[in-house]
Amino acid sequence: MSDFPTNKPVLVTCGLPYANGRCHIGHLRTYIPADIYVRSLHKQGQRTVFVCGSDTHGTPIVVSAEELNTTPTQLIEKYHSHFDEVFKNLDIRFDSFGSTDNRVNHNRTNDIVNKLIKNGYVYPKIIDLAYCSQCERFLPDRYVEGICPYCESPARGDECDQGCGRHLEPGEIRDPICKICGNKAKYRQQEHFFFKLSSFKDFLLEHLKTLKGTDNARNYAKEWVTKELRDWCITRNLEWGVRFPGHDDLVVYVWVDAPIGYISFTEEYCNNIGGDWKSIWQGDSRIIHFIGLDIAYHHCIFWPAMLEGAGYSLPWAVIASGMVKIEDKTFSKSRGYVVWVNEDYLEHGFHPDLLRYYLASYTSHTKDLNFSWQIFQDKTNNELVGSLGNFLYRTLHFAHKNYGVIPDGEVSDEIFKEIRTTINAVIEAMDQYEFKKAIDNILKLSGYGNTYFQSHEPWHLIKQDKKACSRIVKDCLQIAKALVLLSEPVLPVKMKEAWGHLGLNGDVTQLNYDEALIEIESGRTLPKPNILFEKIDDKKIEEMNIILNKRVAVASAKEANLSPKISEITFDEFKNMDIRVGTVLTAQNIKGSEKLLKLMVDIGETEPRQVVAGIAQTHIPEKLVGRQLILLANMKPAKIFGTESRGMILAADESGAVLLVPERSVNNGTAIR
Ligand code: 2FM
Ligand code: ZN
Repeated sequence: MSDFPTNKPVLVTCGLPYANGRCHIGHLRTYIPADIYVRSLHKQGQRTVFVCGSDTHGTPIVVSAEELNTTPTQLIEKYHSHFDEVFKNLDIRFDSFGSTDNRVNHNRTNDIVNKLIKNGYVYPKIIDLAYCSQCERFLPDRYVEGICPYCESPARGDECDQGCGRHLEPGEIRDPICKICGNKAKYRQQEHFFFKLSSFKDFLLEHLKTLKGTDNARNYAKEWVTKELRDWCITRNLEWGVRFPGHDDLVVYVWVDAPIGYISFTEEYCNNIGGDWKSIWQGDSRIIHFIGLDIAYHHCIFWPAMLEGAGYSLPWAVIASGMVKIEDKTFSKSRGYVVWVNEDYLEHGFHPDLLRYYLASYTSHTKDLNFSWQIFQDKTNNELVGSLGNFLYRTLHFAHKNYGVIPDGEVSDEIFKEIRTTINAVIEAMDQYEFKKAIDNILKLSGYGNTYFQSHEPWHLIKQDKKACSRIVKDCLQIAKALVLLSEPVLPVKMKEAWGHLGLNGDVTQLNYDEALIEIESGRTLPKPNILFEKIDDKKIEEMNIILNKRVAVASAKEANLSPKISEITFDEFKNMDIRVGTVLTAQNIKGSEKLLKLMVDIGETEPRQVVAGIAQTHIPEKLVGRQLILLANMKPAKIFGTESRGMILAADESGAVLLVPERSVNNGTAIR
């Protein structure tokens, strides 16, 4: 028996993306299955609230903003809109996509922290904290790097990201180095506030016994609770974040206000539609969290303890996805093993539904998923084009061409039995969060349909026995109707189109699975169908592989400081580069930067050209004045460290810049060929 529908309010959430970088397919491993799950619940007649939003605080955001020479507010606004847009383009339909920097979240965090304080779960303690005397500041979390005290791997201040994976408490990291200036940091004492996580051990052991979801999350958490449960320092020395009540110099740790976002986004949504958020967060409800396995500790230990301590409802299920690999290599942005959703997928004209299909059907939700362009092509061409698309098109095309309407006859019991079996199998798989299994069952039905069509040879039958033929076609149309309803959670855009081809009423996203058992009505007009899925050709895949390989080559060359093996260019492409000789008129340091100089260069135009060059560590500004050098003049203008740069000085990169210069003095503006 399925757990759904239920009369209890159901909330589904997705782990919040940090608003400091672009969306890649690693993110989608959580969001797409969650969206499929929610759509499937709707098809079981279950109403839900589905929320997500931007994770906007903590050092990841502040460090990125500093690196990009922008403010945290500007940074989070940019990436908040980016994620919101990408999710909409992929038909991931959150009821609310909020931001943890919203006022409601600040207020809700204050309320929860105050409740924890009042209930005796927060205490002050003087601790040693990494402090940089050069930068004159404490170094929270990612501002400090050093050695993990448990496994001796290089680690970040808050996490042993390259070794044992432990969460590290402030003050734990050994040999701390300041991430901003690279100097050795020292430990200094300061008062901070701790959450008494250790007092929740018995509660957590009980909670984990009843928590639903995937085994990977539960087992991981059980091990930690049994082994060690240390109190959490929940304050940080930062300006950016949610203030810790009563202390103007402290904000709460980002892992406090981020999951509280789940509550405040529900609150915002319910307030907008006149709903009651308290029935979810303070009543008997089902709260379902979709996350990546890397944040299971936070969701299965820290978060339920916090909710319990503040008197809020507990999660009902935690579903943790496995990680994503790219072409069988560990996902890594810095090493180039990444597929960006906009640049590498949508902007190349691939349909969103194909990616949804790949990510949901490649493997079991809890296992690691490999993304490969070759497999993407194979799966699309064999499964979507060859099986599902083939059945839908041949059935609809035959019916439209020969009848123009849904033909007469009764759908046979055998067909209804097959559909009923598939619906049950799909619901069972969804209940187990086994999206691949659900899709396998749908494909089994389209395989059955293809065999049914093929073996009855309606193209012959129509000439021999018209009545028998219409029965077969009607059977196939009933299978098609079922397939469209069953596949809609995975392929929402394509199935909406297919529903139109069946000439049926209603919005397929709103209808239940059981609708598939209602016999299609003979005599209804069948519009002319289109081919739903087209084959992806080899050339397109080759093009995508070149993009990926090039990115990996550039990244590894950067690492090895070698010139990458970049593909050849034509003479015309070279001609597009406006490279000229120029004379430096002025040169000066850029305030706050150790590496950059601002140059004004005469390149034979009426106005001198302003250029920012990373040569401050190798060249004295005064000595550059009057010298000739070579400049790429049609480089896209960019703001570097707040200063506009309209060109690039050419130099050999040999552990520092070695400037290219003409053999003898030539006129400014002379072209390089
Ligand atoms: O690990 C991450 O990417 C976090 N931004 C996830 C936060 S999920 C939630 F708890 F807020
Ligand atoms: Zn470690």
